[in-house]
Amino acid sequence: MPAMAEGGDSSTGFGHGKVILLGEHAVVFGQPAVAAGIRAGVRAHVSPGSGAISAPAWGLEAQVGDDSLPGQAVRLLLDRLNTDGSSLDFWLEAEVPARAGLGSSAAMAVAIARALAARTGASDEHVLAAAAAAESVFHRTPSGIDAAAASRGRLGKFDRQNGWQDLPLPRPFELCIGLSGQSHDTGAQVASVAALCTSTPVARRLIDTMGDLARAGMEALAQGDIACLARVFNMAQGLLSGVGVSTPALDDLIHIARAAGALGAKLTGAGGGGAVIAIAAEHGEEVLRHWRAKGYYGFTTTIGHD
Ligand code: MEV
Repeated sequence: MPAMAEGGDSSTGFGHGKVILLGEHAVVFGQPAVAAGIRAGVRAHVSPGSGAISAPAWGLEAQVGDDSLPGQAVRLLLDRLNTDGSSLDFWLEAEVPARAGLGSSAAMAVAIARALAARTGASDEHVLAAAAAAESVFHRTPSGIDAAAASRGRLGKFDRQNGWQDLPLPRPFELCIGLSGQSHDTGAQVASVAALCTSTPVARRLIDTMGDLARAGMEALAQGDIACLARVFNMAQGLLSGVGVSTPALDDLIHIARAAGALGAKLTGAGGGGAVIAIAAEHGEEVLRHWRAKGYYGFTTTIGHD
């Protein structure tokens, strides 16, 4: 970290990475989705400087307002939060991989907005609105779920009309997260699902059923019935595959997890690359081992950790 960021004028903010448990893509069409902020995320350090943006873990070097997506997103955050960014540097410690379906851009936007709010006193509501706007630089027409999960860091339900509501969880449970190693473009995946619904209107029924599965998943979570949630994961994966957002690598990760004893597995987030999630109960270590044996990186996270 540059010496500047350690100085008295530096401020910091944190944004969580996220997993979408159920309802990705359907949420764009107004259906409910279930998501959780995870422990891993992005910490932003903002200090006096000259508008440099660096995230060494992502190989990112940009400048506020340049042509890069992070440069544009930080420009927008600064405008929204009425701050002059040309005299600030932005140093990002990223614990989540970029463009992997784990909400890295929303975590970055929330982290920077919070670090700026620490300087200006902007409200939480203002911070979330600014982060959600910055997300549109990366993902064109996001539903807002990623920014909401990045700022809350908990399990919750999200729909476009009502926003985020925390969901109670009788007991925590573990998720295995497996990375395909393929980066993806959320905006392109959302556009491809929209195009499918236009060309083939029956696809809208799959979207509506994804919303039903999210509702069923919420009931299972409320009852602490994780085995039922896992079965719902498997059904959701069938539908996500049906609308064309799974890939051979995501299918491979899912099949490996199920063969290693996972009760349920599905892609998480936009698909077209990115990550999968699996509920493996006592087989978590086995799932990670089998993924590793096939060259995939995986880790576990606890949902309901606080
Ligand atoms: C991306 O994490 C989730 C999508 O539903 C897009 C969005 O809701 O903005 C695919």
